[in-house]
Amino acid sequence: MDLGLTDRACVVTGASRGIGLATSRLLACEGASVLLVGRSGDTLSDAARALGGADRRLRTLALDVTSPDAGERVLESCVGHFGRIDVLVNNAGTSVVRPLQELTEEDWRSQLELHVMAPMRLMKAAAPAMAERRWGRIVNVCSSSGKRPSQTNVAYSVTKAAELSLSRAFADAYASQGVLINAVAPGPVGGELWLAPGGLADQAARARGVSREEVLESAAARQPLGRLASEPEIAAVVAFLCSEAASNVAGAAWSVDGGAVPVII
Ligand SMILES: NC(=O)c1ccc[n+]([C@@H]2O[C@H](COP(=O)([O-])OP(=O)(O)OC[C@H]3O[C@@H](n4cnc5c(N)ncnc54)[C@H](OP(=O)(O)O)[C@@H]3O)[C@@H](O)[C@H]2O)c1
Repeated sequence: MDLGLTDRACVVTGASRGIGLATSRLLACEGASVLLVGRSGDTLSDAARALGGADRRLRTLALDVTSPDAGERVLESCVGHFGRIDVLVNNAGTSVVRPLQELTEEDWRSQLELHVMAPMRLMKAAAPAMAERRWGRIVNVCSSSGKRPSQTNVAYSVTKAAELSLSRAFADAYASQGVLINAVAPGPVGGELWLAPGGLADQAARARGVSREEVLESAAARQPLGRLASEPEIAAVVAFLCSEAASNVAGAAWSVDGGAVPVII
């Protein structure tokens, strides 16, 4: 299937590793130009090299997406490199294992900044520019825990639920102008966030007094497919929603969780 992404000007936040890097790889393979955004310039350069070396269609922007001017800076950089913006993937996000009663005001605020204020500012800057050209795609990478709160980190769950609502609100405002906005809701992914030393698996093991292997086994056992997802599996759905082929999808919150959240919407 031709996804119609050739020469599309795309921005992916959190592109230095994980789901964002896998998404950038797919978009680049489809012939799109991609601006990779993350906080570390060196890590982004390594990622861009891994994707395509000195390819002029791959550019990087070192930026903390929680900066108040992040929307304007992303738009300016994308238009500066590629002449316009067609696609925005709001993917930057993170979590730590922290029980409800141990979450501080700062934990709540930083999760809100990263998962709500940042995608809101980026959409507020990018969507009108896409609307002027009557074509655009925005995908917000949310979480299954935004549909069914997880006690692993309630601030994460609540802000991901807010990001789903934000996504729907922007979708309603822009669909009639050709800008299609959707969310994806992945379940646990067997990538760095979980598996890296000190990552979620190690944190959960410490918190529950069990081994890292037991944490990963029980996380897999909770999924109807019996395993964690892979990063390319999430990226494939994101890339489809960025594409011409998704021309009748707007305001959706696509579960990519192996069937973990037992609802049909
Ligand atoms: N992994 C999972 O199990 C899972 C499940 C459901 C949903 N998700 C969601 O999927 C998205 C990607 O997760 P992942 O597993 O790929 O995580 P990851 O491997 O930890 O990657 C996170 C990316 O976000 C960037 N980032 C973090 N904070 C940032 C900031 N303030 N400004 C700019 N960039 C920032 C990181 O780069 P720097 O640190 O260099 O800035 C990195 O590129 C997140 O929104 C996450 O909530 C993940």
